Amino acid sequence: MDYNKYKKAEAIPDASSMVETFRAIGYSLETAIADIIDNSISAQAKNIYINRIWRGGKSYITIKDDGAGMNSKEIIQAMRPGAQNPLSDRPETDLGRFGLGLKTASFSQCRKLSVLSKRKDYASAYWSWDLDYVAQSDKWELLQWIPEEFTNELDNLLSGTLVVWSDLDRILPRQTAATDENAKRKFSALLDKVKNHIAMIFHRFIEEKAIKIFWGENEIEAWNPFCINENKTQEQPTENINGSVRMKGYVLPHKNNFSTEQAYKKAEGINGYPGMQGFYVYRSKRLLLAGDWLGLFRKEEHYKLVRIQIDLPNSLDSDWQIDIKKSKAYPPAVCREQLESYAKSVRSIGSEVYRHRGKILRQRAGHNFQPLWLDKAKDGKWFFVINREHSMIQDLKMLAKSKPEQAIETLLKFLEEAIPTKKIYISEAQGEETQKTPFSDMDTNIIKQTLTLMFDNQIAQGKTPVQAKAYLKTIEPFNNYEDLIEELK
Ligand SMILES: Nc1ncnc2c1ncn2[C@@H]1O[C@H](COP(=O)(O)OP(=O)(O)OP(=O)(O)O)[C@@H](O)[C@H]1O
Ligand SMILES: [Mg+2]
Repeated sequence: MDYNKYKKAEAIPDASSMVETFRAIGYSLETAIADIIDNSISAQAKNIYINRIWRGGKSYITIKDDGAGMNSKEIIQAMRPGAQNPLSDRPETDLGRFGLGLKTASFSQCRKLSVLSKRKDYASAYWSWDLDYVAQSDKWELLQWIPEEFTNELDNLLSGTLVVWSDLDRILPRQTAATDENAKRKFSALLDKVKNHIAMIFHRFIEEKAIKIFWGENEIEAWNPFCINENKTQEQPTENINGSVRMKGYVLPHKNNFSTEQAYKKAEGINGYPGMQGFYVYRSKRLLLAGDWLGLFRKEEHYKLVRIQIDLPNSLDSDWQIDIKKSKAYPPAVCREQLESYAKSVRSIGSEVYRHRGKILRQRAGHNFQPLWLDKAKDGKWFFVINREHSMIQDLKMLAKSKPEQAIETLLKFLEEAIPTKKIYISEAQGEETQKTPFSDMDTNIIKQTLTLMFDNQIAQGKTPVQAKAYLKTIEPFNNYEDLIEELK
């Protein structure tokens, strides 16, 4: 197109309404703080300090790092929405993409974002976005202001950055009193959730000792989703997609096989076992998505021990549609088939572990394992039969000759206790229509013989044929065989 040919009109975004729009991107407190930490990591910080300072409605959340820092001009550039073009290539270790995170994450939680920063050999400098001022002035203007108590905060560092969130209107009503213990407790609880989230999102950086993240005074410990230190965790072989995406599956041990009860509890993670199954998508070692089947499968109880690591380089951001919040990813069509087939194989191992409660069935001392119930399939339909070869059943037949009551009762008791409920549940989840219809291929002679036996017994007890037939129709499964009952003589 020849742009020179056309008349032009400027359509500059309205500052006051645009900043409000930025607030609506849908961050949670934890994704917002994680986005700020991303910037610290991209700036090669070694230590990151997260602090919450309770002052009621005037509380602060601060995130400080000892990374490269910025001089005054660079802070102004960093504060510009769209500071960088999302299409530009970035170094492999840069966790940013859109040039927006600092602003959008902060505005999602607070009305005042202040950045104090110091580059090596420069004096520290600060600038703030104040949404009340933007609303009033309708200008894209920063204020050279920071809450006074923070001005000297970087004095002990060669370089670094402090991000201060104040006027946390999305977290605390402005008028909250500092003495409001209830509000204080809620504030603490909300932030504790963030701590667990950070322990998960950045676990690889913490494990590799690339960074330390401090929560107040305490260092945050990494939370690794894959339980790699548990003996019974089953690691699956790594597979690549197109050379750049890496998948590695893990099947966690069954509860009974964890080293300690505490380890089992800890491995559960922030959403509980069923919720934490699925893919764990990492972008340059930073976890984007935790426990999500990416639309390929549903979450199901019997796959709750399956977790699959996916590693993406940041060069695939646009293919995987990484979002501004760094909390979503959509696998491109070319990857889906391979993801699905890899996940299916890991899931089948996972459901085995779940089903056998961690017991591995195999030969022992030359003898084959003897299940009481056998799962069978015929014409694509599943059903269960009692294992007639089971040696207990053989022995009970012998017992039945001398003590029939005891033999039958024992048999029934064992059958009741050993009903393969988990396996039934798993089979059922594959769709109702895959189950064989009960009695569909049963020999009618057996039914007839049994009915005759019961009918004769009723007559012997003094019932009329009509009464006996009516009675049989109330008994499962004979209620389904009214025709056979009517034929009885
Ligand atoms: N803690 C920090 N230390 C040094 N520089 C920082 C820090 N935080 C932000 N910056 C600078 O500000 C810029 C803008 O940050 P912002 O988070 O808004 O966007 P981004 O990280 O480039 O991309 P994204 O929107 O994906 O987060 C960064 O590219 C970086 O140059
Ligand atoms: Mg960023």
